[in-house]
Amino acid sequence: MGPRILVFLAVALSQVCTIPAMTDGADFTALKALKDIWKNVPPTWVGSDPCGSRWEGILCANSRVTSITLASMGLKGSLSGDIQSLSELQILDLSYNKGLSGPLPSAIGDLKNLTNLILVGCSFCGPIPGSIGSLPLLASLSLNSNGFTGSIPPSIGNLTSLYLLDLADNRLTGTIPVSTATTPGLDLLVHTKHFHLGLNQLSGTIPPKLFSSEMKLIHVLFESNKLTGSIPSTLGLVKTLEVVRLDNNSFRGSVPSSINSLTSVSTMFLSNNDLTGPLPNLTGMPVLTYLDMSNNSFDDTEFPPWLSTLQSLTTLYGYIMVLCFPSQSKLSHTHP
Ligand SMILES: *[C@@H]1O[C@H](CO)[C@@H](O)[C@H](O)[C@H]1NC(C)=O
Ligand SMILES: *[C@@H]1O[C@H](CO)[C@@H](O)[C@H](O)[C@H]1NC(C)=O
Ligand SMILES: *[C@@H]1O[C@H](CO)[C@@H](O)[C@H](O)[C@H]1NC(C)=O
Ligand SMILES: *[C@@H]1O[C@H](CO)[C@@H](O)[C@H](O)[C@H]1NC(C)=O
Ligand SMILES: *[C@@H]1O[C@H](CO)[C@@H](O)[C@H](O)[C@H]1NC(C)=O
Repeated sequence: MGPRILVFLAVALSQVCTIPAMTDGADFTALKALKDIWKNVPPTWVGSDPCGSRWEGILCANSRVTSITLASMGLKGSLSGDIQSLSELQILDLSYNKGLSGPLPSAIGDLKNLTNLILVGCSFCGPIPGSIGSLPLLASLSLNSNGFTGSIPPSIGNLTSLYLLDLADNRLTGTIPVSTATTPGLDLLVHTKHFHLGLNQLSGTIPPKLFSSEMKLIHVLFESNKLTGSIPSTLGLVKTLEVVRLDNNSFRGSVPSSINSLTSVSTMFLSNNDLTGPLPNLTGMPVLTYLDMSNNSFDDTEFPPWLSTLQSLTTLYGYIMVLCFPSQSKLSHTHP
């Protein structure tokens, strides 16, 4: 037997041997508290050993609860501060339980091992607690399609491991926070791939400081807010961008020429704004396949000759309606 097989056997044996372990007492108490305030918990949630007797949706390691995954279970109730004791929890996914409501407790900030906080499509409301910024391992923060209000906590900029930031489809107000001498901001999220902030009521301008060449963003989705001012030319610094949605806001002024250097953009929505000046030159976007610039106030111009050089462009919504070939499949891909 090679050393790899031996290691495998040792790991397998150690797992077999840990199965009967009793659940940590504080972890059981926390789950029991959730069980008591929730309706429709899974039928396997009986007894006092969630790890040993395998409560549905619960995963453990060394008697500690590491994952709670209860998407689409019809759960009803709220999230109590008792979750604070689950200090080894890495994944909390309660998505698509419309009956889960109330605020997200500030104690969520005590779950230092949390990597995935996924509460998509529930009915949570109130402000997003600033304590979320003290979860150093958080990689996915998906709070989309809830009823969150208030502004985006600047502390989110503290989440250096963040891959996905999805706050779309809530009732968030205020401006997009960028760092100051004393507070963090979203400009610090240089490893994050997704900024999904669409379908809120965010206002003010996009601070030029938000974007820099160190960023790795592929999706910037800011559509359907109340953002104003001009599109910052710094957007052109984020060379990794693939999908840009700024539509349905109140952007004005001309489109900065820097966006022509975004060579990986395949989908861009600038529609339903008040953009003026000449149509942007987009010849630097060789993979652009979907472009919507309709309902703006661009200068009346002839069909720009460079448009025909965009080999991959299959769908164009713009000022010339004849060139309108809607593609539903593309739309649904780009707006998850
Ligand atoms: C939880 O985090 C602590 C330190 O923050 C670490 O020592 C521990 O190994 C982590 N637990 C798991 C299961 O990763
Ligand atoms: C930033 O993260 C660190 C480490 O987790 C934490 O101590 C600090 O309070 C956080 N700051 C903010 C503003 O959230
Ligand atoms: C524009 O955004 C508002 C919310 O800001 C939304 O209610 C409306 O449906 C959006 N319209 C379009 C065409 O996307
Ligand atoms: C054009 O955009 C403005 C601003 O977003 C919006 O209020 C208006 O409803 C849009 N018009 C059409 C026809 O979509
Ligand atoms: C458009 O931009 C390209 C660079 O991508 C440049 O070579 C070209 O001259 C520009 N065309 C016009 C009409 O400005």
